[in-house]
Order: sequence, then C-alpha cells, then structure tokens
Amino acid sequence: MQQLINDVQKIREAVRYHAYRYFVLDDPEITDAEYDALYDQLLAIERDNPALITPDSPTQRVGGEPLNAFQSVDHRAPMLSLGKCSTIEEVEAWLRRCGSDLDRDVGDLMCELKFDGVAVNLLYENGVLVQAATRGDGTTGELITANVKTIQSVPLRLMGEGIPNWVEIRGEIYIKIADFESYNARAVEKGERLFVSPRNSAAGSLRQKDPAMTAMRPLSLFCYSVGGHSNDYEPQTHEETIEDLRRWGCRVNEYPTKCANATACADFIARVGEMRDSLPYEIDGVVIKVNDLATQRDLGFYIRQPRWAVAFKYPPVDARTQLKDVDYQVGRTGAITPVARLEPVQIDRVTVSNATLHNQDEIERLGLRKGSTVMLRRAGDVIPKIVANLETGDGPEIKAPECCPSCGTKLTRGEDETILRCPAQLACPAQLQNAVIYFCSRECLDIRGMGTKRVEQLLEAGLIKRNSDIFTLQQDVLVKLERLGEKSAQALLDAIESAKETTYPRFINSLGIRNIGEDTSTLLADRFPTLEDLINAGYDALNAIENIAGTIAQNVLDFFAIEANREEARRLVALGVRWPKRETPTSLELADQIWVLTGKTSRPRAEVKAMLVARGAKVSGSVSKNTTHVFAGENAGSKLAKAQELGVRILDETEFNALFS
Ligand code: IVH
Repeated sequence: MQQLINDVQKIREAVRYHAYRYFVLDDPEITDAEYDALYDQLLAIERDNPALITPDSPTQRVGGEPLNAFQSVDHRAPMLSLGKCSTIEEVEAWLRRCGSDLDRDVGDLMCELKFDGVAVNLLYENGVLVQAATRGDGTTGELITANVKTIQSVPLRLMGEGIPNWVEIRGEIYIKIADFESYNARAVEKGERLFVSPRNSAAGSLRQKDPAMTAMRPLSLFCYSVGGHSNDYEPQTHEETIEDLRRWGCRVNEYPTKCANATACADFIARVGEMRDSLPYEIDGVVIKVNDLATQRDLGFYIRQPRWAVAFKYPPVDARTQLKDVDYQVGRTGAITPVARLEPVQIDRVTVSNATLHNQDEIERLGLRKGSTVMLRRAGDVIPKIVANLETGDGPEIKAPECCPSCGTKLTRGEDETILRCPAQLACPAQLQNAVIYFCSRECLDIRGMGTKRVEQLLEAGLIKRNSDIFTLQQDVLVKLERLGEKSAQALLDAIESAKETTYPRFINSLGIRNIGEDTSTLLADRFPTLEDLINAGYDALNAIENIAGTIAQNVLDFFAIEANREEARRLVALGVRWPKRETPTSLELADQIWVLTGKTSRPRAEVKAMLVARGAKVSGSVSKNTTHVFAGENAGSKLAKAQELGVRILDETEFNALFS
C-alpha cells in the first residue's frame, strides 16, 4: 500500500507539473499524448483506490456537485473598482494629485493590461484553493468554487516557498477571442443562443449550475494582485507580489512594466495601444498602480476606489448604421428617455441594435429622422451612443410624446431640465415596476429571483403595490401564479427573508431617492446613524456633508417631505428589514474640526483618517483658511509651510498620539 501511495503522489506531481507547463506557462515539455497517458494512470489508480483521492488532485477539477443557486460569501479584503482616465493629461493630473496628497513623490508605478473578463477572488489556505468567488458588490460575492476549479490555469494548490497561511489571489477569468468566435460559430450551426462578447461568454460560463458545463468552456485566468492575507506575508511592492504569484504557480500576464514617471506610463499606453488588436484576448485599457505598498496604504481609498491606482481606457470604437425608429421609455423616477432602434451592427465584436439618446433635445440637436444614417460609439460596457448624424434622409420626423407611454398622464418638463417626466410617480405602472426592480437589484436589497419578469408578474397579479409589500408575500398566494411551483415559491420566500438582513447604505439606496446612488447613500449613512436621523435631517446638515451637492440635499429633503415615503421607509423596518449598526462616527467630540494630514506617519494614513472621522472631524486634502488642524509627519513639505503661514494648529506624531491616548 505504501508503494502505491508513493506512486500516486509521484504521478500526481508529474501531472501537476506538466499541466502547469502547458496551461500556465504555455510552454509544454511533453506531448499531449504523453500527458494524457500520465493523467489516465492517475485516474485509474484513484478509481480503484478512492481512499487515495485528495481534493487538490488534478483529477478533481470536475468533481463538484451541480448547484441550485450560488451562495454569497464575504471577501476578506474588499474588491475595489478603479477610477478612470481617458487621456494622458488625466493620468498626469492623477499622479500630481497623489503627490500633493502625500506631500512627496509616489515613486515607481506598475503599468499592466486591463483584462476584459470577470474578476475572481481565489482564497488559498495553507496553499490549497478552498474558495473562489465573483466580485459581486465588492464586499460580498457569489461562491463559484466548483466552476473555477475546472479552469486548468487555476492552481488547486500553490507551489514553492513562502506561501502565506492564507491569501486571497485576485485575477481575471477570460475567454480568448478565437475561442469565443469558434464557440459562436458552433452555436450558429446548432441553432443555439450566441454570446455577445468574449467577456459575456466568460461570465455566462462561470455561472453554469453544473461545473461539468463550465469545464467544457475554454476559460483561462490572469492573476494580477493579492487581496487580504495572513500577517506572515509582508511584501513591500506590487512588483514583488506579482513575482510571488508567478513563483507560486499562478498564471501572470507577461506585460507588467515598471515605470518611473508619467512619460514612461504614456509610452506603455502607446505601445499597448498599437498591439491591442493583435492580442489573443480582449483588454479595455491599462491599469496604473503605485508600486510601493506602504505608499499605497498612505494614499488609501475614496469610498470604493483606491487613490493609488487608475485605469486608462482606450478611446471607443465607432460604427455606422441606420436609425429605424425611436421608442420612449419611462425610468424609475419618471424620466422619459428616447431609445434608438437600429439596424443591427457589429462594434468591437458586439452586436448593437439599441442605443440611448438621453433626451429629446439630443434628437433635435442631431437633426435625426427615421431612416437617418448615424455614427454609433461603444466604450467598454457603456450603453452605445449615437454621436453623429451622417445622413438625415427624408424619413418621418421623430416627435416627443405628450403623454406618458405607460400611464397616459400629461408629461412635464422642469424649468431647468431638458428631460421630460411623467409626474404620476408610483401611480404610473412603468415607474412602479422600475422602482421595484431597482429595490430588488444587487446594489439595493439584492433579492435573488426578483428579476424583471418576476416583478412584472407580481405587479400584474396585484400582489405588490409598493416595495414593502414584497415582505408580506405568502406561499399560498405565490403558488397560484403561473411558472411558480411550490419549490420555487419557497426559494423566493427564502431569498426575501434573507434580503431583510442588509446594510444601512443599501437600505438608503433602496428607497429610490432621486439622484442618490450607492456612494451618496454611504455618505448619508455615515452622517445620519439612524433612519429617524435621516428622515429628520435639515437642509443645512445635509448640505454640509462633504461631496454632497445642494440639489442632492434638496432631493433628500423633498423625498422625506412626502408622508407616504416616510411611512414606506418605516414600514420596511417594521416588516423586519434590518442592518448592523454603523461604527462611524462614534462620537462628535471633534465635530467642528477640519484636519489635513501630511508627511509620513508610522500609522497608515487611512487609519489616522478613520480615527479622526470616528470622532466627527472632517479630513481634507489641502490646507486652506478653513483648516483647523494639520497633522505633520516626517518630511512634510508645502502643506506644512502653508499651515505655518496661515497660523493653523500643527501637531507632530507625539502630540497627535497624546491627543488620542
Ligand atoms: S487591480 C484596486 N489589475 O478591473 C485594484 N484590475 O475596475 C483593482 N482588472 O473588475 C484591481 N485587469 O477585475 C487590476 N491588471 C489589473 C486588471 C484589473 C482587469 C479589472 C478587475 C476589476 C476592474 C477594476
């Protein structure tokens, strides 16, 4: 038996090694037939001796059970998004901002390709892949472990030295352009549904309920960073983490390049721009990251985006086509948007047949008529847009409707608004439907199974008349609906029950206040710790929040001035919607103070900032006459000088610590 154990280990090592040469390094040492023979031996031994199978054995890639639904899981460190630049000047401005925030140069930068696929978070414990999740909302993702394990370039176990106790490895799963095209060609032959883009086909493949289906799709992975990790791992630079990933057997792209300044970044961007069309996979830009990790920590975050990285996006691609007609859609806040129906056309491998036109003025400005030939532009995932009218033709004119296409109410136009609106609010079926869809969406209460079709059905059946009614739905009524058996009705009720547990910002977002999205909801949640605080907030208190404009403060005020809105928000809470108490601010002892942080400090800057914010202070990026305190660390420069000039109170690290001891 011991001999067999040794043999199986040896063969397993060999299969692992040759799979790594083939799938990660793209540099096989043996022929496909030799590899297959090795793999078959392993399979045969394991089949006859199931006790010898280990979860990280290469044969276990397609072992997972089919899933009914994807479970949620919290990332150990959040998965952030990136601020965007579309010109070199914007990249330079970003670098200058970093420099002035820090009061010193940021040092080297790392430029990388921005892959256009699906972000994943791979959790390794003691070097073994234990969990894989999608990005989700950045805090919580969906568990797709069984599906991800089928991807040959994802290591089931890390190799080499210095592997942390636990580590989150971040990367992008994608499909090569050629594979996407041959998949679609086969789908045409078989009369199956086509994918619209390589990215879309990667996402669809990962969301298969049966891992065996995912295994058949040619998915691949590029790892580009480390997320959370145990503290036995202490990299100093991003470059070092990339090298570690490579050593641990992860597939890392060949192009990351260290750049000393903006000019070097611009060169990289230009070079990648030239080779973009000949790359075998899709990219939508370049990511520029500050290389030094301590400097990254000093720069910190702004809500969901790091200040230490940006994405450069290449200019969008254009195409010409014909405008067939214009439909008018009613949004959740009653805005009427014209949507262009187009002769389908390919842009950047995506078939486009609709485009947004923003508002009626846009149609007039472009002088569009039915049948006009137009120039279309698609940038990344953004909805395609008509940018020019190339040939008007003599088709019929396009007139804005006078009445709401959904409820027939006469449309209004605000004084300073170019947008037509239906004033009927939730009495308008289209607005109600969109409001409910939004309420159930990922960025709000995230109720699985409440997609457009289901919401439409529940509204039609009269089972819900407002969002909170969702929490009163009962099994016996649900099962009477078409396409809803007992099992799916129960699954829906379970999803509704678990959606009650949410976060305070998501709850605020779900109320559907005009012009308020996820980020503003977070700002409101930070400032007004309870729902009653928010309902009773006055204009001045709202307007005083940094990064909240006057109109938004007014939108909040207008919203809660309506009795029905206050009642609906409270009813949601009464029906069980709840959230953990937020920690900031814990006290308001520093409420009138405006701080500026400068120079190098022994604590990470984000931590210093959190200490101040928790006590009600504001932290600003630049010294002005409103600044009340400056915390000056080592090597502080121009900000310190300005503070001295203005006579602002300046504290060094010892004084700062004394204040907080
Ligand atoms: S770094 C804060 N590096 O871009 C750091 N992201 O907007 C964010 N992405 O969905 C991640 N290539 O999956 C990083 N070389 C790269 C990337 C990359 C593609 C994606 C990432 C995320 C999005 C961030």
